[in-house]
Amino acid sequence: MEILSPRRLEGEDVFERSLRPRSFSEFIGQKNVVSNLRVYVFAAAKRGEPLDHVLLHGPAGLGKTTLAMIIAREMGARLRVTSGPAIERPGDLASILSTLEKGDVLFIDEIHRLHPSVEEVLYPAMEDFSLDIVVGKGAGARDIRIKLSPFTLIGATTRFARLTSPLRSRFGIIERIDFYPEDEMKEIIERSCRILGIEIENDARDEIAARSRGTPRIANRLLRRIRDFAEVEGDGRITGEIARNALERLRIDQYGLDETERRILRIIIEDFGGGPVGLKTLAAAIKEEGETIEEVHEPYLIQKGFLARTPRGRVATEKAFKLFSPDSTLF
Ligand SMILES: Nc1ncnc2c1ncn2[C@@H]1O[C@H](COP(=O)(O)OP(=O)(O)OP(=O)(O)O)[C@@H](O)[C@H]1O
Ligand SMILES: [Mg+2]
Repeated sequence: MEILSPRRLEGEDVFERSLRPRSFSEFIGQKNVVSNLRVYVFAAAKRGEPLDHVLLHGPAGLGKTTLAMIIAREMGARLRVTSGPAIERPGDLASILSTLEKGDVLFIDEIHRLHPSVEEVLYPAMEDFSLDIVVGKGAGARDIRIKLSPFTLIGATTRFARLTSPLRSRFGIIERIDFYPEDEMKEIIERSCRILGIEIENDARDEIAARSRGTPRIANRLLRRIRDFAEVEGDGRITGEIARNALERLRIDQYGLDETERRILRIIIEDFGGGPVGLKTLAAAIKEEGETIEEVHEPYLIQKGFLARTPRGRVATEKAFKLFSPDSTLF
């Protein structure tokens, strides 16, 4: 179900940009990460050096790109944005790197998707700001080393485990961004309402916070849809009743589970006796890509305590069994 996808949907970027916090003090939650980053940024600025390379990892829609932009802004640095799949050849990366100026920030999104030959270019660049290139051909070919301006690389990934260890080890700062607890989601929703000029009742805010999967991107999206209901069926104000009705019509349950997730649990319980089930078997059974299950659905099911990962596969927890028991009021 698209409305609960933590990934950015087409056309959502303009809306997201208007809601994106622009400084550490505007950024809600992730207190540890933010306070660490503040220290590193401050210390680097004080020394007049570029910040160490930063790796931000965690599920989609939680603020990795937002944080990368904030870091650059707080450093007063110029930001250059690209992504793993966008850099096709080693030469493409070499040309980006060679145009960076002292103190610039290079943001590489989806950094786990860099081609291995491109990644090789990154190692010496990150380590001692140099570029090793081969000039000439055949017997006359020789290696030359070009000096780069000191810069900061910020990498973001939803798949930390996919990163090679040589790449991982070249980041001085590694921070994990996690799902937001409900009280922080409430603050995020309030902030968005303020910016968008939406009036919202506290219990409506709480309902949305509970059902948006600890993910700001989803909360903002739900808010936008619910505002439509409020404008058409009410006076524009989001009341508790309007929110509950809208969420019901959008088929979002009280845990924020989507249809795929309910299907995952149901199949593990009904067809595999609760598990363990291997990822491939599961993917085939529910006709969904293993990658999507692993990246989008599993982290949330695990976080909510419906699913556990064991060495032999995925198992449904007691909480999941309860959800599907005949006296459950949920489904
Ligand atoms: N801490 C926060 N406070 C307020 N809003 C936030 C916060 N974090 C994220 N958002 C909102 O959520 C949206 C999505 O965040 P962002 O694009 O940074 O996520 P991401 O982790 O980079 O996702 P992806 O993995 O898909 O690239 C932002 O546009 C912003 O409006
Ligand atoms: Mg991003």
